[in-house]
Amino acid sequence: MISLVDLRPDAAPRAPLTRGALPLPVVGADLSVPLVTGEQVSYVNLDYAASAPCLRSVLDAVAALLPWYSSVHRGAGFASTVTTELHAAARRAVGDFVGARADDTVVFTRNTTDALNLLAAALPDDTTVVTFASEHHANQLPWRRGRCVLLPVPASADEAIALAEGALRAAPSAHRLLAVTGASNVTGELWPLAELAAIAHRHGARLAVDAAQLAPHRAIDVAAIGADYLALSGHKLYAPFGSGVLVGRGDWLDAARPYLAGGGAVRRVTSDDVAWASGAPRHEAGTPNVVGAVSLAAACRALRGVGMSAVAAHEASLLDRLTRGLDAVPGIERLALWGPASPRIGVVTFRVRGLDPGAVAAALSAEHGIGVRDGSFCAHPLMVALTGGRAPEAPGGAAVPGAVRVSFGVGTSTADIDRFLLAIADLVARGARWRYRLDAGRYVPDPDPRPRPALAGLLTGGANDLVHGLLESLAPCQSPI
Ligand code: ALA
Repeated sequence: MISLVDLRPDAAPRAPLTRGALPLPVVGADLSVPLVTGEQVSYVNLDYAASAPCLRSVLDAVAALLPWYSSVHRGAGFASTVTTELHAAARRAVGDFVGARADDTVVFTRNTTDALNLLAAALPDDTTVVTFASEHHANQLPWRRGRCVLLPVPASADEAIALAEGALRAAPSAHRLLAVTGASNVTGELWPLAELAAIAHRHGARLAVDAAQLAPHRAIDVAAIGADYLALSGHKLYAPFGSGVLVGRGDWLDAARPYLAGGGAVRRVTSDDVAWASGAPRHEAGTPNVVGAVSLAAACRALRGVGMSAVAAHEASLLDRLTRGLDAVPGIERLALWGPASPRIGVVTFRVRGLDPGAVAAALSAEHGIGVRDGSFCAHPLMVALTGGRAPEAPGGAAVPGAVRVSFGVGTSTADIDRFLLAIADLVARGARWRYRLDAGRYVPDPDPRPRPALAGLLTGGANDLVHGLLESLAPCQSPI
């Protein structure tokens, strides 16, 4: 097997991650951002559930790969051989990370949404999919194109199991699939996957798990859980280079039409016939995203190296600090499916009495340098259920009730949580100190004097800026004439 460290003889190896040592180094940990008041502060990223920062070790892996980056699968050059082997090793590493069975197929996709759409496209024609209104849109909308039973938001984990059992028992079709999240992207609450898998199998159905939020925070073992399919995204797993995966049973995937038709997905093509490939290649036509695959595998290796139980313990202590702090701020209502004590990952969503969530998020950014997400989190039915369908409190709010979400992970420190708690307490007690206006439905500072970073012209898109920036960055490498 090829080791990425062996591929980088000219680079001083970074110290290996120590098991249990958290927080882990992430790219952007030392980012400094401007406030509307003119100060410059270190950025606090509490938006991991949307897109987590890149692990430093993942960036190292990408840097190690790039000199060797070459055509994959069919190139005869040595670099192509290495790239092809790296791609295959990445597939194995991601499969190992989630405990895939030896005969599971690991298909590289763009992200979780893509993976779930792939599975939806691969279902046998008569499949009934049972899912919940509490799911992310990515785990609802692909199924709704076919025969789908959308269960109401359950009031407890036990009710989720009972509702799923009733629906699977009643579903008339030969093929049935239960599709649930591993952890809610809105409330962070963990779903009883092993129990749901047992129920599904008792009724001859299969279980698909949307693990986009679960995978960065908990050890996953699809074989032990009994999940038949699992989808996850690299950009939530500290590897933001455009890869995700669908892992699971090969039979439906091999019987389905290829998700993408094109080169790489075939064994032979004549002018009037195609013999399609089986396994992952069947659904991966076109040149694969090698950088995405290798970076995702690097993240999986790094998380395994530090230990998922250490990750969970680190996040549990931050979560405890965060929730105790938030509960001490008057007027804060935390949203939960099953109550504040149900087990969850590092995701906390809340509303502040009398304040629009969008305005709170804008002020946290503009006045405190803290990044959170606000809105309805691609989970509209769930947000309506969690808020009792209440109308937004401020004028100009979206049609779906919104909230503020704080989410964190392996790069987060207690200092980050404390900065947020001080900021939200100040905001609730004294209100915003800047003016904000609505711009295309989002609150923005009015005015917004924060200077944007130069970034070699990337932000302005000016061709001259870009060329100038690139030349400047090359200048130190040029030999004197
Ligand atoms: N679905 C992602 C989230 O929950 C983007 O933020």
